[in-house]
Amino acid sequence: MQDILNQLQQRRDVARLGGGERRIEAQHKRGKLTARERIDLLLDEGSFEEFDMFVEHRCSDFGMQDQKIPGDGVVTGWGTVNGRTVYLFAKDFTVFGGSLSEAHAKKITKIQDMALQNRAPIIGLFDAGGARIQEGVAALGGYGEVFQRNVMASGVIPQISVIMGPCAGGDVYSPAMTDFIFMVKDTSYMFVTGPDVVKTVTNETVTAEDLGGASVHAVKSSVADKGYENDVEALLQMRRLIDFLPASNTEDAPDVPTDDDGERLDSSLDTLIPANPNQPYDIKELIHKTVDEGDFFEIQEAHAKNIVVGFARVEGHTVGIIANQPMVLAGVLDSDASRKAARFVRFCDCFNIPLVTFVDVPGFLPGTDQEYGGLIKHGAKLLFAYAEATVPKVTVITRKAYGGAYDVMSSKHIRGDVNYAWPTAEIAVMGPKGAAEIIYRSELDDKDKIAQRTKDYEDRFANPFVAAERGYIDEVIMPNATRRRISRALNMLRNKQVENPWKKHDNIPL
Ligand code: HXC
Repeated sequence: MQDILNQLQQRRDVARLGGGERRIEAQHKRGKLTARERIDLLLDEGSFEEFDMFVEHRCSDFGMQDQKIPGDGVVTGWGTVNGRTVYLFAKDFTVFGGSLSEAHAKKITKIQDMALQNRAPIIGLFDAGGARIQEGVAALGGYGEVFQRNVMASGVIPQISVIMGPCAGGDVYSPAMTDFIFMVKDTSYMFVTGPDVVKTVTNETVTAEDLGGASVHAVKSSVADKGYENDVEALLQMRRLIDFLPASNTEDAPDVPTDDDGERLDSSLDTLIPANPNQPYDIKELIHKTVDEGDFFEIQEAHAKNIVVGFARVEGHTVGIIANQPMVLAGVLDSDASRKAARFVRFCDCFNIPLVTFVDVPGFLPGTDQEYGGLIKHGAKLLFAYAEATVPKVTVITRKAYGGAYDVMSSKHIRGDVNYAWPTAEIAVMGPKGAAEIIYRSELDDKDKIAQRTKDYEDRFANPFVAAERGYIDEVIMPNATRRRISRALNMLRNKQVENPWKKHDNIPL
């Protein structure tokens, strides 16, 4: 009996060594952890339950029958994060470069099926060279099986991808269909075709970093939601993110007890808005002062900074925050900001996370650049996302809410549940100067007259009361009471029930 137990132990030891000491050392030299080290950091200590440790590929081409490594380049299983179940798979770059074979794909799809059936989040850690080249079409079939499951799980369980090394070819599209992609700076990159192919096809010379590093995807392309400094930071932040999320679309996010009183007032907010309406202020100050303990998990922090989105809690319950940022482009809505916020709003709506929106928006960004780039369609994404959302929606207009952007930013007209305005709010079709110059075009040459017309318009419309008179906002509130008002509104909305008409699915402008 002892012999049998020893044999199992030996087989486990071999499997756990993956591609062997030399390749593990090479992995460490590059500043990367191994798949198993990553899992240990991500999960609660000792909670990992592994599946399929002894799975091997069945390829016999190109001498592969003599090269078998148990596990076949991916470590899969489940465990807990702060006591809550998550499923995961971690590509093992030390085994055939983490490349995907038919058997490797089956390990992943088994985990995907279990995560969906048992309704818990799934996390993929990527560090891989794409399709197992020796397997050809069998690998392509494997990818297809993974992709289909990504789509079936979308909107049912949270799916998170962390890119921690190469992620190329077939490997990019599974992450792209998950809810969030995070990267590690300098050691990870994502592209459909690598620098060599780019050189051959387009004659462009580019490094892997410049083609698909975190500096590209978390900033320019928006493919990734954030880049972290190293593996450890990325994994610890994933634990933090999981705490904000429900296990599935039929569950609520966990309550996290807090000592931060929902009734807390903050008098410093009474002076947040500068006297000059064109002077910026940092909307993140309002976010931090409103949410529990200032704890804010920002998504896409480095992309389209004119809008800020992320998770926080109010009285222990997760909320999704969406806020125009006056510090960047005056908080204007452009194509990137609209797409960024739309995707976030839709994630929250899928997963029963109430939306808290802070509005200070001078409108949509004018210009050929934006119009040629499809601003109408991208702006419509955000409008669509807010309008279809059935989760509780609480909105606070701090300053400008001009034009179409007023409607878009979770207004009453698109089913905002509780819409507040600070006394500094200006809810109007456009800024006073622009308005006067259009209505009194014939007086444009007379500067004094236009100044007077501007002042008249400002006096009439640059306030929240015209909208309040119509019930477009529910109450003009003191800035210092923002947290209290939001807490109470969210409590009042806790049992909200709204259903959209039956449809196969909607047709959001893509
Ligand atoms: C089999 C692979 C592999 C692959 C890497 N390896 N990629 N084995 N299939 N796709 C193996 C290497 O042979 C090597 O084995 C080990 O992994 C480490 O690879 P290195 O090249 O030594 O590492 P590095 O220099 O860091 O380069 C990493 C890399 C490079 C950039 C990922 O390996 C690479 O370019 N690989 C090929 C990428 C690719 O073209 N994949 C196919 C994409 S097509 P040893 O034994 O020496 O340790 C695709 C289509 C799917 O994915 C589309 C579906 C929609």
